[in-house]
Amino acid sequence: MNARNTLSEGKNGILQIGGVDVKDLASLYGTPLYVFDKAHIKNVCKTFAESLEKYYGYGKIFYASKAFCCKEIYRIVKEAGLGADVVSSGEIFTALFAGADAENLCFHGNNKSFADLEYAIQSGVGYVVIDALSEIDDIDAICAKYKVKQRVLLRVNPGVEAHTHHYIQTAKPDSKFGFSIANGDADTAAKKLVSKSHVDFCGLHCHIGSQIFEKTSFLIAVEKMVDYYKKVALDFGAKLSVLNLGGGFGIYYTDGDPKFGCADYADYIKCICEKLCACLAEKGIEKPYLIFEPGRSIVGEAGITLYTVGRIKRIAGLKNYLSVNGGMFENPRYALYQAKYTVLAAERLHDKPDTTYTVAGKCCESGDVIAENVNLPEMREGELVAVLSTGAYNYSMASNYNRNCVPPVVMAENGKSYLCVKGQTFEDLVRNDI
Ligand SMILES: Cc1ncc(COP(=O)(O)O)c(C=O)c1O
Repeated sequence: MNARNTLSEGKNGILQIGGVDVKDLASLYGTPLYVFDKAHIKNVCKTFAESLEKYYGYGKIFYASKAFCCKEIYRIVKEAGLGADVVSSGEIFTALFAGADAENLCFHGNNKSFADLEYAIQSGVGYVVIDALSEIDDIDAICAKYKVKQRVLLRVNPGVEAHTHHYIQTAKPDSKFGFSIANGDADTAAKKLVSKSHVDFCGLHCHIGSQIFEKTSFLIAVEKMVDYYKKVALDFGAKLSVLNLGGGFGIYYTDGDPKFGCADYADYIKCICEKLCACLAEKGIEKPYLIFEPGRSIVGEAGITLYTVGRIKRIAGLKNYLSVNGGMFENPRYALYQAKYTVLAAERLHDKPDTTYTVAGKCCESGDVIAENVNLPEMREGELVAVLSTGAYNYSMASNYNRNCVPPVVMAENGKSYLCVKGQTFEDLVRNDI
């Protein structure tokens, strides 16, 4: 099914998540439905936090909340001892509303407005990550106004290419994110930062991509970041004490992907920390506070989406369309970058998968597809279908396209479930219309 014990098989070949039958979930909450295995989220958080402690001993995991953002997830990660990476005023608001500690928030974004920065600084966020030159002036002005000093990290692009789909790579030399070390843009930003008296330029940040499995690109990034960390301190006199290496650890979507379990993530952190310690020792640099920002790996495989099969269209010799009652409005990832998923006949796990389907949504777009070339038993209208590993970048990317309602989100754990985000209603759809 997927990489971990997120899912199991209940009675009569019915899929279970968190020990709850998906049929029961569907009748309690309806479909489409996002369901998360809470124990799995907690396990991965614990793995990252404990590994960082064990192999480095000085730092923190910040959950990248763009992957899945709602009040409940901020509560869960806080309880597990994690901070959060936030990328908009809306995410900051949600995190604080849920009780997150402002100092454990790291605020990112290539286009934070003056108002975003003012809100973040007034809220007391721990770090702002600089991703534009003029942002430095804005932060300095805001800090002068409120008589505070804001800790900031400089987002640099170490020029490491992670092996993944190019739309979700962020550290290529032409990326919209970060200042390139290679072309001197990072130097310009660093010099500007040290010249500002209201800004506490305390560290560097990089994020080399997403859905990464191989370690080499991380290890090369570590070398480059340590080199640059030293250069910034020596050449520009910056007093750095923080290194944020971003997120990007991969998860299992389909048979093409490695199956990473908690032990593999622990090993990942171990290798990166060992490399970092070796580089620091070689350069004679004091250990910086180390931050990682995993998102997908914490929530991705924990989540599934349940759908009810609607119309089935068989085009002789060409295709079988299996239409489900969701689509690109609640999972736009296939439409965005042809993301691949494992799909299960959730009530008939044992039946022979002898029919190939294109699982399509209900939106008025030919590209509204959830998964292509999926082998399932001959399906019937009204049956449940489960799409696996939808916990990251699904709910958080949902829209009201075609005036569809964003489905509810449920947590399942130890055979019990509870609602953590209500499904939208038609009234919600017209609430802001004038
Ligand atoms: C700056 C930054 N940190 C962390 C992440 C989280 O990445 P992932 O969900 O792949 O772990 C992203 C994702 O785009 C990012 O841009």
